[in-house]
Amino acid sequence: MRKCKIGIIGFGTVGKGVYRILKSKNDIHPILKDIEIVGIAVKNINKKRDIELENNLLINDPYKLIDDPNVDVIVEVIGGTDIAKDIILKSLRARKSVVTANKAVIARYGSEIYSEAAKYGVFVLTEAAVCGGIPIIEPLKRSLKSNQINKMVGIINGTTNFILTKMTNEKADYKETLKLAQKLGFAEFDPTADVEGHDTADKISILTELAFGGAVNRDSITTEGIEKINIKDIEYANKLGFEIKLLAFSERNHVNKEESLSLNIWVAPCLIPKSHPLSKVDGVNNAILIEASPLGEIMLYGPGAGSGPTAASVVSDILNLYASLSKNISSIDPLLAFNYWRDCHIIDFNQISKKNYLRIICSDTPGVIGKIGDLFGKNDVSIESIVQLDASKNKAEIVVITHEVSNGKFEKSKKEINRLSEVELIASQLSCI
Ligand code: HSE
Repeated sequence: MRKCKIGIIGFGTVGKGVYRILKSKNDIHPILKDIEIVGIAVKNINKKRDIELENNLLINDPYKLIDDPNVDVIVEVIGGTDIAKDIILKSLRARKSVVTANKAVIARYGSEIYSEAAKYGVFVLTEAAVCGGIPIIEPLKRSLKSNQINKMVGIINGTTNFILTKMTNEKADYKETLKLAQKLGFAEFDPTADVEGHDTADKISILTELAFGGAVNRDSITTEGIEKINIKDIEYANKLGFEIKLLAFSERNHVNKEESLSLNIWVAPCLIPKSHPLSKVDGVNNAILIEASPLGEIMLYGPGAGSGPTAASVVSDILNLYASLSKNISSIDPLLAFNYWRDCHIIDFNQISKKNYLRIICSDTPGVIGKIGDLFGKNDVSIESIVQLDASKNKAEIVVITHEVSNGKFEKSKKEINRLSEVELIASQLSCI
């Protein structure tokens, strides 16, 4: 069997992890020795690196690898969007299969990239783009395809889960913990993508497309991050029997007259009952619960970020590609074939229906809980619980948890509550499952 020759573009956390696995002495698989690195494209060849490299592998022009007829597979691990997209498309057009860990590009340009791959008879594999080391892309593309997937709920960003776990268990400082996540190689180059929820939205967009078999508009996903989460909310949530996690939610709604599948998708910090399996997912771990028929419910769990786990997913894609290249299979993966995709659309923010948590700071006067309850009732919002958790200096903190309700009705009630003379501030709002 001839060797599989790869060009790696980018040599950061994931690129170095890929190199380490390919050069590893571990007993991984005999075919690992048939993967040959032709070159590694980096911005600065002379930069000091914490890894020993074989001579002459580093080059600074990624397009040399794309144009090299000896290269079979391009591994794109530079991150970012514009240059990475160009690299992926040019590689496919040069009839090279691509392995990428880039969720930002796949979430935004997946349709274009998948159809270009089909046009040129090559593959684009993306296991490392979602949930680091957890196999989730290939199961959705293959093993679960005999089911109707109804719902996916997950913790799919390692950085934010790491931060929230440390804030919960150690009362750690938000900014310090984010710095630690960056140092450990969990966070994105620009960590606002993690903490503002955009990385999670990219990932749930990719998973949704595979699970429901149709392209979605990534920019219509209602997205909230963890920047505003207060230690107080974590403490109150704990007292009431919940953990706070950044969740991604994607659910099949119904097919409308135009035959378009409507989807309920959102990303938000969420109170999860301590009895729920996702509440036990701590640190950099990720987990995704999938509800499907006839299968029932499964949960995939494991390390969601970091050099080793993410690189392991990249290398498994390289090995899968090698297996197909060496058998000379040229037809593109039919389960990803774009021409089978259906029309999907994401429902409007006001129609999204979920449970909510609200922390209200108000004057500690008789009847205030009643007034809040009345306004919710008037707007058809049913309350699951309402408690006064702290009262000092004539001020009270009231925490309300609602039953499931549309965002439209909830936001209207919130505005009216905010206008009550007793209410000083709506201090925080979170989602609940
Ligand atoms: N920044 C991402 C995370 C890396 O924290 O989950 C893995 O995609």
